[in-house]
Amino acid sequence: MEEGDSSSSKLLALSTPLLKLTSLRKLLNLDGAAVYLKYEGYNPTGTHKDRAALAHVGEAVLNGYDTVTVGTCGNYGVAVAYYARLAGLRAVIFVPKGYSNSRVPEMKRYGARVVEVEGPYEDAVAVSVSSARANGWYDANPGSVNDHVSIEAYSLIAREIVRQLGDAPAVVAVPVGNGTTLVGIYHGFYRLYRAGETTRIPRMVAASTSNANQLVYSWSRGSTEPLPVEVSEVRETPVNEPLVAIRSLNAEEALRAIYASKGAAFGFSDSEMVEMSILLRAFEGVSALPASASALLAVREYLKANEVDGPVVAVITGRWRREKR
Ligand SMILES: Cc1ncc(COP(=O)(O)O)c(C=O)c1O
Repeated sequence: MEEGDSSSSKLLALSTPLLKLTSLRKLLNLDGAAVYLKYEGYNPTGTHKDRAALAHVGEAVLNGYDTVTVGTCGNYGVAVAYYARLAGLRAVIFVPKGYSNSRVPEMKRYGARVVEVEGPYEDAVAVSVSSARANGWYDANPGSVNDHVSIEAYSLIAREIVRQLGDAPAVVAVPVGNGTTLVGIYHGFYRLYRAGETTRIPRMVAASTSNANQLVYSWSRGSTEPLPVEVSEVRETPVNEPLVAIRSLNAEEALRAIYASKGAAFGFSDSEMVEMSILLRAFEGVSALPASASALLAVREYLKANEVDGPVVAVITGRWRREKR
């Protein structure tokens, strides 16, 4: 690991800060609500994907695997490579060939074998799943046999928020691609509410790209079932890559969580996400990946049309340092 990296102290229990929005609140006309950022950029590889990766690598070790695999467009692959290395496992990471922001150099630096796959993200996941089956590797893919491990890991974000606020917030906005993170967080809140530890389940608001995400596409057409995404052109860019999902692998559960909690799903353009990321840096000193800044855009969108009677939380991930290939 890198010099000065305090990862080993964070390995056993990941925990991230909840930052109260100050100057930006006024600028965004969010005066009526207390808005918090659940800053997942604090995790060792800079995103909430650390939570799922750590849990999967733990499972792999407990069950005697020597190799863990995943298909990824970047952040999740780096996280899996990182924890696999710490645990002494081999990581085989499948990435879509055309992606520009794949963080491949970092994966390789953590010792992962990186395999490029022709086609979109969904194809990289499919090749990883079939390779896991064929080779007896641990499958850490979303929507796969070990999906429950990711869901459990993300549910800890809910537990932390409740500990930090003293109750569940009124609204939680989550950047979504497959929807796995949103489903996990919802499950966490649902369980805490059923156990009598909170007074409510937050409204779950999905934040994503306006260019091809199945959750946004289905919700905005009023459908409780995932609809096939029909767009004339899917444009993956360095900004929207983590969020584009022609098929969201956890679409059914994510839509259930959104509808059951009376939430919403909003899509944003690249320029809106980049602008919000710049504002977060300038006004709050927070380094946010533009894709994750969609969560704060979604908070603003939601509050335009809805009254809330409690705090609002946006899940935000960090911006990684760009590296030369
Ligand atoms: C920064 C970031 N935000 C959001 C997502 C989407 O998460 P999910 O696929 O769990 O919905 C990803 C997925 O890679 C991501 O890297």
